[in-house]
Amino acid sequence: MIQLTDVHKTFTVKDKRTHLKKRIEAVRGISLTVKPGEIYGLLGPNGAGKSTTLRMIAGLMQADQGQIQVCGIDTLEKPEKARSVVGYLSTDLNVYGRFTPRELLRLFGEFQGVDAKVAERRGLHLLEKLQLLDFADVKMEGFSSGQKQKVSIARALLHDPKVVIFDEPTTGLDVLTAKTVLDLLRVMRAEGRSVIVSTHVMPLVDEICDRVGIIFDGELHGDAPPKQILETWNAKTLDEVFFQLAARSAAEV
Ligand SMILES: Nc1ncnc2c1ncn2[C@@H]1O[C@H](COP(=O)(O)OP(=O)(O)OP(=O)(O)O)[C@@H](O)[C@H]1O
Ligand SMILES: [Mg+2]
Repeated sequence: MIQLTDVHKTFTVKDKRTHLKKRIEAVRGISLTVKPGEIYGLLGPNGAGKSTTLRMIAGLMQADQGQIQVCGIDTLEKPEKARSVVGYLSTDLNVYGRFTPRELLRLFGEFQGVDAKVAERRGLHLLEKLQLLDFADVKMEGFSSGQKQKVSIARALLHDPKVVIFDEPTTGLDVLTAKTVLDLLRVMRAEGRSVIVSTHVMPLVDEICDRVGIIFDGELHGDAPPKQILETWNAKTLDEVFFQLAARSAAEV
């Protein structure tokens, strides 16, 4: 279970030319729930606040205000315990090029306190599911971005997390690889995990998401099954909902 209640996050950045400080309200009072066995799609344009929200759920960044719980664990009060039940995939494709996937997964298993044999078995099983088993013992320095993404996915799921947080899991992947990842997310759902994914890719939402939340300027607009969102906005596609939100936001300025 993932539960967010009125979560806020503001960044302060400095303009190098004017030396003026600027406040960016990246997340402005977001509340949402993702139940076990559910895939929740967090949609929104660039800079809307998706990654910030997911980082806070993953316990990698603290909210300024509000409450976040994963499996009933408060991420502010018990960040380490919260992180242990969360599998987080970031958009950053950095993998340690000197390592092979098997070595990286072994190391990550140690970090997570997973028994070495269990980590090896689970890691290889995930690589097989992601069709990367043939590369388990190849150094990752020459890996394509899709191959790196697959290793990162295996790493995120290695410790059998009850909560799965994937930030743009299919970006940069070809349709076949993307399907492999979506199939894996379906398995995660069938196993009763709470899954939240961020994306700009509308077909992904239609295909796998049970519910969708649209983030725009740090606020959540609509939190419903994809079909219901379209009905509410009287739109044929989720892209159209984006355009309506953008037009509304421009009119408010
Ligand atoms: N560490 C940070 N320091 C300062 N500003 C930040 C930081 N992280 C995010 N922001 C700002 O917060 C806002 C939301 O960023 P975020 O990365 O959450 O957006 P996003 O919805 O994931 O966008 P994208 O689709 O481009 O990945 C942006 O204006 C961004 O510049
Ligand atoms: Mg992002």
